[in-house]
This record gives sequence, C-alpha cells and structure tokens, in this order.
Amino acid sequence: MHTFEELSVQFAQYFNVRHFPTEPATLYDADEYFLSLGGKRVRPVMCLMGNELFDDINKDTWPVAAAIELFHNFTLIHDDIMDKAPLRRNQPTVHAKYGESTALLSGDVMLIVAYDYLNKISTDYLHKVITLFNRTAKEVCEGQQLDMDFEKQEVVQLDDYIRMIELKTSVLLASSLRLGAILGGAGINNQNHIYAFGRNLGIAFQIQDDYLDAYGDPVKFGKQPGGDIMANKKTFLMIKAMESANPGQLKELKRLMQENPEDKVARVLSIFDECGVKKWAAGLKEKYITEAFEHLEEMAVVSVRKEPLRELAHFLVQREH
Ligand code: IPE
Ligand code: IPE
Ligand code: MG
Ligand code: MG
Ligand code: MG
Repeated sequence: MHTFEELSVQFAQYFNVRHFPTEPATLYDADEYFLSLGGKRVRPVMCLMGNELFDDINKDTWPVAAAIELFHNFTLIHDDIMDKAPLRRNQPTVHAKYGESTALLSGDVMLIVAYDYLNKISTDYLHKVITLFNRTAKEVCEGQQLDMDFEKQEVVQLDDYIRMIELKTSVLLASSLRLGAILGGAGINNQNHIYAFGRNLGIAFQIQDDYLDAYGDPVKFGKQPGGDIMANKKTFLMIKAMESANPGQLKELKRLMQENPEDKVARVLSIFDECGVKKWAAGLKEKYITEAFEHLEEMAVVSVRKEPLRELAHFLVQREH
C-alpha cells in the first residue's frame, strides 16, 4: 500500500516524459507547455489508489491513469477558453500564450493521445474501460454546457447546480477510482461504492474550487481570483447569496451581473459576506464528505487498506490550490 505522496512520485516517474512529437512545434509545444505546469495530478493517483485497494498495482493501471490525466488537461485547455481565464497553475493559459486556434487543437490532440494510452491495455479490460471512460467524457461535456448555460440564466436552483458540478467535475474523479477498481478485479458492489465515494467527494471538491475562486489566496490558488464572479457563474455562493439576499442586495447583485462595473468582484464579495455564504459553503461541503465516507466504509475491504483514500479525501476538500 502506498500513500498519496508515494503514488504521486511514482506516477510522475511514469508520466513526466515527452508525450507529443516535435513537429509542428507550433501545435505540440503548447501541449508540452501545459503538461509541464503539472497540477495536483489527483485523478491518476485516484486511479492507482482504486486499483491498490484491491490488489498490487496492475501494470495496465499506469496507461489508464495517464489517459485520465491527459483527458483532464484537455478539458482544462478548452475550459480556459470558455471561461476566458488568463491564468492557471500560476502561469498563462494555453489560449493566452498561443492563441485560441492552437489551444483548441492542442486540446483535441491531447484527447487523442489519451486514447493512444488506453489502447495499450490488455483486451481483457479494454471494453469495460473504454465504455466507462467514454460515458464519463460525454458527461463532462454535458456538465460544461450546463455551466455555460447557467451563466446566462438569472436564477439557478441548488439542485441544478449540484447536477451540473456532478457532471462537469465529480464523475471524472469517481470514474478514476472505478477504473482503477475494475483493473484490480473489484466486484460490482465494491465498484459501485467506490464510484459513489468519488462522486460525493467530487461534488465537495468542486464546492471547494468554487469557494477558492472567490476567497482563495491568489498565489496559492494559481488562477485569476474572482473569475467566476466576473463570468456570472452560478456557483453555490451566488445561488445562496441570491436566495438569502434582501430586496436591495438582490437588485444590486442583478445589476452587477448585467453591467459588469470595474469593482464588480469586490462588490459581489461584500454581498456574499453580508449573506454569510462562507458558513453555508462549509456545511454543504460537509454534507457530501459525510456521504462519501459512508460509501467508503461500506466497501468490503479491510479498513486499513482504505486509509490512503481517507487521507486523500481530507486533502481534497481542505486544499488551498
Ligand atoms: C481543476 O481541477 C478543474 C476542476 C474540476 C475544479 P484540479 O484542481 O484538479 O486542477 P489541477 O490539475 O490540479 O491543476
Ligand atoms: C471546470 O470547472 C471543470 C472542467 C474543466 C471540466 P471550473 O471552470 O470551475 O474549473 P477551473 O476553476 O477553471 O479549474
Ligand atoms: Mg469552467
Ligand atoms: Mg474554468
Ligand atoms: Mg473553478
């Protein structure tokens, strides 16, 4: 059994190689640039953990973990275009540095290289792995579309927000674990529980992401602070503020979203504070973490083997970046 740190080091040894050809450099340099910025690499490590929960690491888990990380990075490159984000991992985003056309194509080709990795695994697992991978990838697209649709919608219900973040974010975390579990020979009950653990944890993870977008330390977080507020994202912070605002505050929030004044972020944040959204965020996160842990406990695996997953869960929801 290995800890998160140990698996991160092992994954880095496998993954930190060149993944793309050299020519045309105008395309592939963008891919190599983005991967060189690293990131937390939580999804591939979750895949390895999901595998190690059941057995010694199956050698096919490495290419599947790599495919997941490449897929994730592809979604980020495209997400940063959609969200007009200038910064990620404390560096310029791909479209900011290389232009939108290159960013689109470098994301596309990264997705295809992800499938090159999947194509390396034993045919014993290939069908199951591709089926779950593809279902998840489609769900991420659906969630991303809802996220964009909600920018233009004045009011979004909390349930719809939860469904949106489940699709855009949490299913990939859940599937990372489940893909590892499949390769570890897990039975269907354990697969369902590890997926449900990841799904609930993933919702808490995105709630934390939304919280950090508004309140995080910009240097640690590595993205432009207040980006969600600028884009009129209907995060739970915004939903809760609109729900609990008095008529004056609500009018002001709607005006800020329409008129985009220079001090929009600061003014929205002060309404968030007046409405006490921080406390509410912590409660919502807690609800999903508790549910996640219930599924972890229900898995038919000796408790000590679950320790790395418990540690990971605490890190993910308390993270500052
Ligand atoms: C960012 O994911 C996108 C979200 C789903 C919130 P991460 O926070 O895992 O990003 P990196 O890979 O560590 O940069
Ligand atoms: C991103 O959600 C989810 C995906 C990339 C699929 P966000 O738009 O909140 O992610 P960040 O904050 O840009 O990393
Ligand atoms: Mg987005
Ligand atoms: Mg974004
Ligand atoms: Mg975000």
